[in-house]
Amino acid sequence: MSILSGKNILLGITAGIAAYKTASLVRLFIKAGAQVKVVMTPNSKDFITPLTLSTLSKNPVFSSFTNEEDDNAMWNNHVELGLWADLFVIAPATANTMSKMSNGNSDNLLLATYLSAKCPVYFAPAMDLDMYKHESTKVSFETLQSFGNVMIPATSGELASGLVGEGRMAEPEDIVTFIENDILDKLPLKGKKVLITAGPTYEAIDPVRFIGNHSSGKMGFEIAKASANLGAEVILITGPTHQNVTHSLINIIAVTSAEEMYQHVHNYFDNVDVAILSAAVADFKPKEVALQKIKKKSDTLNIELERTKDILASLGASKKHQFLVGFALETNNELENAKQKLKKKNLNLIVLNSLQDKGAGFKGDTNKVTFIDNKNTVTEFQLKSKAEVAEDLLNEIVKQIHA
Ligand code: CTP
Repeated sequence: MSILSGKNILLGITAGIAAYKTASLVRLFIKAGAQVKVVMTPNSKDFITPLTLSTLSKNPVFSSFTNEEDDNAMWNNHVELGLWADLFVIAPATANTMSKMSNGNSDNLLLATYLSAKCPVYFAPAMDLDMYKHESTKVSFETLQSFGNVMIPATSGELASGLVGEGRMAEPEDIVTFIENDILDKLPLKGKKVLITAGPTYEAIDPVRFIGNHSSGKMGFEIAKASANLGAEVILITGPTHQNVTHSLINIIAVTSAEEMYQHVHNYFDNVDVAILSAAVADFKPKEVALQKIKKKSDTLNIELERTKDILASLGASKKHQFLVGFALETNNELENAKQKLKKKNLNLIVLNSLQDKGAGFKGDTNKVTFIDNKNTVTEFQLKSKAEVAEDLLNEIVKQIHA
């Protein structure tokens, strides 16, 4: 799945011959799963028609402050367009438009939109050889980059003038790859490894029975997705669940018992940067596992249980550089219990869910959590979907590890 999937991309087209290639660019963005809107300078309509672009983008194309042809002329709101966009890509970017962007001119809709956009802006220059080399063009490149805009350099080749040299707009495929790589490189957990536990554990009584719990694994899987979406390489060690996820950055390891989970977690822990233990690990397991199915010979049956290893506590005891996060599910005296757990298990952060809160906990799609860190900062959240809770948690971790 492309990192552009689900993103709103505003494509700005200016008046260069390379504008004809933007039909392919729109298609590639859409193929990557993005929504596309197009804003054009008036002169760029000489090179490609708004009809082509609106058909491909499945959205109206904007090129002036009002729709003059329309009897009920409407104001095209450049602020709204700028706010809609997750990314603004100006391709081709002519020397004229870049110079105006550098100087804050806003005499067309594209320029006004650029000035009001808060999202990352990419620009792909295209012009003739000597224009590309001109000192004033170089100043535009430098000024625009100093404003935080990202330049997608032009390539060398035959130009519309017949001259050969630098100035050809990057090919649409290369523009898409460039933007994807740029976004991936800037993700806050790029290069970090995150270990996550999820789901219940099953502790065998005999070959057909076990002691388990109602954990769905959903919270842990959402945390895995949120981590991967921020660029982390994820090791997800999960007990038996019906959850599934396919993501190139998530490596799933399926386990059954607390002991198995313990072994796998310790295999990876030394080499990770963050460990988030959201699994509902059984605290006890049968002392003896019957080799044959237990028959109902008597009215009662006693199974002697013994403690499982506390995985989280064992990590807390051996942690070095790792940022360690645990969960606490409490029914009473919640905050106090969670703070004690944080300290006892040597955690950086604990996520408390109280069973007194409706919609919180194990099974459902929602959760209501409170974060407590090792500086005793308590942050309480509203009831949210587990996906949103996972995002909040990852944002907090990013904030703390980069602090
Ligand atoms: N945990 C673990 N290994 C265990 C038990 C728990 O790694 N054998 C982790 C859970 O994944 C969770 C945290 O410990 O992150 C809290 O678990 P919880 O069962 O609420 O707390 P306990 O410390 O077991 O204390 P108690 O059961 O007494 O509340």
